[in-house]
Amino acid sequence: MKKLVVGNLKMNLLTVAERDRYLESFQRDFEKKAKNSAEIVLCPPAVHLEKFVETLAQENIFVGAQNIFWEERGSFTGEISSLMVKNIGCKYAIIGHSERRKYFAESNEDINAKIKSALKDNLIPIVCIGESQTERKNGETAEVIMAQLNQSLSDVPISKITEIVFAYEPIWAVGSDAIPTSDEILEVKITIRKLLVEKYGASAAEKVRILYGGSVNSKNVAQVCVEPQMDGVLVGRESLIPNEFLKIVSLIG
Ligand code: 13P
Repeated sequence: MKKLVVGNLKMNLLTVAERDRYLESFQRDFEKKAKNSAEIVLCPPAVHLEKFVETLAQENIFVGAQNIFWEERGSFTGEISSLMVKNIGCKYAIIGHSERRKYFAESNEDINAKIKSALKDNLIPIVCIGESQTERKNGETAEVIMAQLNQSLSDVPISKITEIVFAYEPIWAVGSDAIPTSDEILEVKITIRKLLVEKYGASAAEKVRILYGGSVNSKNVAQVCVEPQMDGVLVGRESLIPNEFLKIVSLIG
């Protein structure tokens, strides 16, 4: 299975000029560096999705949304449906990022509805799960992960589970420069895999890709991805610097 490197550009690239500079340097550095390695997914703000698809999408580079809504169309001011994202040429959508859980009060039930909507429209959901600092200190990591998984996978059938990508993103590691040890990441990966085996059986569970996210950079990618044998990474800040992002791609690809 090809490794997957996802860039979450968050709420950045504020002008057309800034976006175009980013795209130009990404293309230039990609030609030099990252050919034939991992699968790349870039998730820009929604206003840039179309341009990213037009400019970058190719055999090894895909575009994803940072969020979707579960209704297909209608009176939902400000929302963007999974079908709209799919129709503009995206392949992926991040669902349940900790920043959406925190600032927009997204619940596991909301995340479940978004996952089902994405799957219905043939978008691959990248579902973020992870514990807070307090939960970690209290030794509740496995419990939190299992509750997030159980609730967000409600009514997701076995025929669809292998399409979902999970990203273990400990909340305390996002935007902080703190990272778990590779043993801690491996332990969470095993927890996720075990739950998937129980729910869907071994042969489906082993096909599900599990990524790590939270303060990933080219210096720590061996610790957070290679050593715990993750299927890839979800990168925030470093994805804003094409050269650095592509360095991560070439190190794990
Ligand atoms: P950082 O890589 O900036 O910590 O962000 C991680 C993240 O939230 C990716 O979704």
